[in-house]
Amino acid sequence: MATRTDSWNEGGRLLVLLMAALLVMSAIVLGIAGTDEDGTRMLIRATARSSLLLFVAAFAASSLVRLRPAPTTRWAIRNRRWLGLGFAFSHLIHLIAILWLIGAHDFQPPMRSIVGGGIGYVLIALLAATSFDAAVRKLGARNWKRLHKFGVWYIWLIFLFSYGGRAAADPLYLPPTLLLVAAAAIRFVPARKKTISPT
Ligand code: HEM
Repeated sequence: MATRTDSWNEGGRLLVLLMAALLVMSAIVLGIAGTDEDGTRMLIRATARSSLLLFVAAFAASSLVRLRPAPTTRWAIRNRRWLGLGFAFSHLIHLIAILWLIGAHDFQPPMRSIVGGGIGYVLIALLAATSFDAAVRKLGARNWKRLHKFGVWYIWLIFLFSYGGRAAADPLYLPPTLLLVAAAAIRFVPARKKTISPT
């Protein structure tokens, strides 16, 4: 009988699938737009979006399952670690494209992006490296929780600044901004109390 871990959309297989999809997406973007400055910038924007979707799925998984237990939300919470690693891989491509923009197209990032985004990358690396059970045991559950809580909220903030700032000038950036606000808001919604029917 096939178990959940044998399934193509669970665990390590899900991660392999996500990584393959991200590589195909990047190849398509570069194939169509080229590797000049415009093409590289398009890849940076495309990976920012794939990262956003994977980040929000992992960030909101526990709130969603608490508010609405259903097969999809249970799938998201079971696979939160792999969705998070998928996000890290997507953002690795974002980084490679940024380095290409700097090296091949003389792009000079502003200091606030280097510092703010740089800290974000350190945190992404730390979260990815500690996303396994052995790391939870080594760090202790409390420290692990602290690190992951701080890390995800910091990354959320960078996304919010990036998309929110652009939304002020271009309404097409409103959907990703609202998605981030909604994903944060549901973390504060208390779970519905179970109604106990009188016997
Ligand atoms: C946690 C780290 C980071 C996050 C979450 C992040 C996220 C984003 C987001 C959301 C966008 C907007 C994409 C769009 O316009 O649709 C973006 C664009 C961009 N990012 Fe990042 N970023 C990070 C780190 C960095 C770093 C460290 C740099 C450079 C030093 C950088 C350089 C850029 C550039 C140049 C663009 C604009 C591309 C364009 O529109 O031409 N990012 N990033």
